[in-house]
Amino acid sequence: MKIYIDSSDIKEIKEINRTSLVDGITTNPSLIAKQNKDIKTILKEICKEIKGPVSAEVTAEDCAGMLKEAKVLKKIAKNIVIKLPLTYEGLKACSELSKKKVKTNVTLCFSVTQALMAAKCGATFVSPFIGRLDDIGENGVNLIKDIRKVFDNYKYLKTEILSASIRNIDHVKEVAKAGSDIATIPAKVFHEMYKHELTDKGLKIFLDDWKSANQKIS
Ligand code: G3P
Repeated sequence: MKIYIDSSDIKEIKEINRTSLVDGITTNPSLIAKQNKDIKTILKEICKEIKGPVSAEVTAEDCAGMLKEAKVLKKIAKNIVIKLPLTYEGLKACSELSKKKVKTNVTLCFSVTQALMAAKCGATFVSPFIGRLDDIGENGVNLIKDIRKVFDNYKYLKTEILSASIRNIDHVKEVAKAGSDIATIPAKVFHEMYKHELTDKGLKIFLDDWKSANQKIS
């Protein structure tokens, strides 16, 4: 499974990128707004650091406006992916951009029918928001399982499942088990993924024993 980081904070992106585990980045208007910085500056900084796909979301609500904004965003860097909302207007924009071979990430997906339509419009990625389904008492991971099954039924569908709204390491584990192509993970969850109490306990035992051996590696 590919790991994207769900962030617009260049400092946290640079730090995590030192692990070479970052396959891409997703941003959205809320994450960009938090940075109090011009969107183009933020995206330029991210695209300089990350060579994989960087999703940048349009804010227009009509197809024509989305296509206009997509033109501006695409100019920022070659690895910019245009993020479009899963609305009727967003699907029309996705179809237009796909015809021009512009990579798209259709976001705010909450159902199989939405995902199927995005895929048929040629979306490069579709982003089901699993945490927000959990928030309303549904089971977000089940949506990933269902979309995986539908996409696998039709080999001509090339859209990658980009699981989003990831809230904890169980979400990461479950979407990986479900066959999600990608998970976009907040920095906080990323930093929980490598931690385990037995690792810490085991390392302490090793180092305590090493101290008593009174040796040095040099
Ligand atoms: O990429 C979408 C993500 O940022 C939304 O996450 O936790 O606000 O549902 P959340």
